[in-house]
Amino acid sequence: MRMIDLCCGIGGIRRGFELAGGFKNVMSAEVDKYACETYKHLFGDDANNDVKDDAFKKVLRQTDYDVLLAGFPCQAFSRIGLLKGFQDTTKGTIFFEIAQIIQQTMPKVVFLENVENLVRHDKGRTFEIIINALEKELNYHVVGVNHDNDELTYEKSSFIRNTKNFGLPQNRPRVYIIAFSRDYYGEHLKDIPNELPKKGTKQIYRDLTEILESDVSAKFFMSAGYLRTLENHKARQKANGNGFGYRIVNERGNKKPIANTILATGGSGKERNLVYDPQNGLKYAGRMIAPKKTVINNKFIRTMTPTEWGKLQGFIGYGFMDENGIDHFSFPEKMSNQQKFKQFGNSVSIPVIEEMAVFIKQCVNLMTKDFSEKEKEQYKIPGAQKVIILKAQEWKKNNAKNLKIEKYYDLVKTVGVAQEFAAEKVSKQLNISLVSAYKILKNMEKMNCISHEHGKYELEYVGEKLDAFMQ
Ligand SMILES: C[S@@+](CC[C@H](N)C(=O)[O-])C[C@H]1O[C@@H](n2cnc3c(N)ncnc32)[C@H](O)[C@@H]1O
Repeated sequence: MRMIDLCCGIGGIRRGFELAGGFKNVMSAEVDKYACETYKHLFGDDANNDVKDDAFKKVLRQTDYDVLLAGFPCQAFSRIGLLKGFQDTTKGTIFFEIAQIIQQTMPKVVFLENVENLVRHDKGRTFEIIINALEKELNYHVVGVNHDNDELTYEKSSFIRNTKNFGLPQNRPRVYIIAFSRDYYGEHLKDIPNELPKKGTKQIYRDLTEILESDVSAKFFMSAGYLRTLENHKARQKANGNGFGYRIVNERGNKKPIANTILATGGSGKERNLVYDPQNGLKYAGRMIAPKKTVINNKFIRTMTPTEWGKLQGFIGYGFMDENGIDHFSFPEKMSNQQKFKQFGNSVSIPVIEEMAVFIKQCVNLMTKDFSEKEKEQYKIPGAQKVIILKAQEWKKNNAKNLKIEKYYDLVKTVGVAQEFAAEKVSKQLNISLVSAYKILKNMEKMNCISHEHGKYELEYVGEKLDAFMQ
C-alpha cells in the first residue's frame, strides 16, 4: 500500500510501516528544518511541506495513495470546528488540517499517534471531537469504537498502548488511532478485530542495562553543583507532598530498570531519566571540566546519551539494521546533541508502530479477500477521485432530472485535473447555452466538485475511471 507521512519528524512511523512490509512511502510533510535534515539523511526524501498549505493539499489530491500516517502535535481546539465542518475557525489546528486532507483524498486507512493526555485533554472533549470527526463526518470505522444505535461508545484506555510491552525498556504510554474507510471496506469491516494489539512479539532489549553505553564522555555527567540543586528541589517537592523531581532510573536494587518517557522538551525529559553509571563516573568524579561551573559529581550520576535515547525508541540497534547485523542509522553530520534529543523525544517507538502496521495489514487482508469483482474494481480508484464519484452519485440521486447530470459527466471527461477553464468553454464544448453552462457550474460548485475564482473554474479531481461509475 502507498502511504503519506504527515508531521513526519524523523520518520519513526514510516520506518515502523516499512519494517512490517508491503508499505511504500510516496509523500512526506514536516516543517522543522532539522527534522527534515535527518529525514532526508535517513530516507533520501525531501519532507519540507506544510500540512496547512493549500498548494500541498492540492498535490495530495493528485497523489494516488492508500494510507495516511500522522503523529500530529496535540493542540487545544474548540467544538466549533466540528460544527462548521473544518472551515476557517479551525484553520491552523493541525488535526483539522489533517481531517481536511482525509476529506479531500479519502485514504483507505488512517493511522494517528499522539500523547497519552489526548484522551483526557479538555475533559475528554478533544478526543471526542477527533473520534466523531473520523466516524461521523469522514465516514471511517475507528478500531475500538462501538455503535450503540447512533451513539458511539468506546473505552478511552483501549487507545493507549505502552512501549514497555513492545520489547523496549521505556515506560511510554501513547494514544494510537487506526481507522478504516467505510466507503472502501463497507460491510467487511465487521470481520476485523475491534481492538488494537496490546503486546509486541519481539523482545529487543530486556531492560535498561542492555542499552547503556560502555564508554560515555564526561559532558553527560552532572556537575556536583547542579546535582545538588536537583536534590534540594526534589526534597522541597517531597516536603510539599509532590512526587516530582529528577529520577535515577537504574537505582541500585531495581532488578529490571526501565526508562521514563523520553520527551522533546529537553530538561524535564532528561532529568526524569538520569542513570547511575559508576563504570564511567569513577573516571570523572571530582574533575573540573569546562564549561561546567563546579566539579563532576561523585555519585556517578549522568543524563542518558542521544544514542541511548535512540535505542529506547528502537531507532538504534533495531529499526535500521540489515540482515547482516549492520546498523544503518545515523544523524547528518553536525546535528547537535540538543537536536538529537529533541528528535528522538518527539518521535515514536518503532517496534510499537511496526506491530500496529502488521495489524493493519492483517485487517486489510481479511477484508479484501472476500471482495466481489465490483468491490475489487472500486478498490483501485484513488481516494480523491472516489470523493468526486461519491459526490456525483449523491448529486445524481437528488438532482438527476433537472440538472442535466449527463452534461456534468461530459464535462468531467473533457476537462483535465486542476486545469482552469471558463464558462464559455463549457458552453462551446458541450454545445449548450451560456446560461445552462453557468447553471451546471453553479451546481457543481455547490457540491464542492469545482472551485471558482475570478471567473475561472477548476475541477477538484477528474479521472478516467469515472466513466465506469456513471451508468
Ligand atoms: C510529535 S512530532 C511527530 C514525530 C514523528 N512521528 C517521528 O517519528 O519523528 C510532530 C511533528 O509535527 C510537525 N509539524 C507541526 N506543524 C506542522 C505542519 N504544519 N506541517 C507539517 N509538520 C508539522 C512538528 O515539527 C513535529 O516534528
